[in-house]
Amino acid sequence: MSASQQKVHAAGAALNYISDGMTVGLGSGSTSEIFVRLLGERMRDGLNVIGVPTSEQTAKIATEFGIPLKPIDHVDRINVTIDGADEVDGQFQLIKGGGGCLLREKIIAHASDLMVVIVDETKLKAQLGDFALPVEVDPFAFTITAKKIFDAMRASGIPRGDVKLRRRGDGLEPFTTDGGHYILDCACGTIPDAPTLADRLVHIPGVVEHGLFIGLARVVIVGEDRGAKIMEF
Ligand code: 5RP
Repeated sequence: MSASQQKVHAAGAALNYISDGMTVGLGSGSTSEIFVRLLGERMRDGLNVIGVPTSEQTAKIATEFGIPLKPIDHVDRINVTIDGADEVDGQFQLIKGGGGCLLREKIIAHASDLMVVIVDETKLKAQLGDFALPVEVDPFAFTITAKKIFDAMRASGIPRGDVKLRRRGDGLEPFTTDGGHYILDCACGTIPDAPTLADRLVHIPGVVEHGLFIGLARVVIVGEDRGAKIMEF
């Protein structure tokens, strides 16, 4: 069965974490979009929630599916956030940012009472790093920031890292995030110690945020061919 069917199973199982009156953080990416669509269907059947989107794209889809939205500054609390991930390890550490929304995703996950991650089986890894780690940076002096990131990778036990500026589909212009930043995709191979790398990255001027989500996810729902496996931390 395809990963896309597994994503549907994971997104469907996440609906069990939603109840009437909740404020729900809405993640970004294809798995989150399936969740938003399913949530919209539940709302047509009478469920009432407010959504807080993690990206312009998610806001657009949520609006299409009739989910009322509020910006994060207009809510007192977010009960739960449902979001996808690019990689998940056994400690529920994540790589996120494949879609370039990691800054808003992290702000919203951090502000939520609970973060529930929805993934297909291909995202489960013994160790993070196969997927190039997205790091969101200020466009100003991004080449200097890239060198500092490379040094931080080396110092964190990643000897053959590679840092690349993400470009738009046409390959000409840099990709820019909803916040107007650039993304540097940092190929690591394996990240031996994710918290140490995360700590080094946050101290580099020019790094706005990195895609390592550590200590945020409490529930991981893995879509399988015949349903979904729920893992709670
Ligand atoms: C976007 C993300 C996504 O959650 C991540 O890339 C997973 O996407 P998908 O569900 O399409 O595999 O972090 O910034």
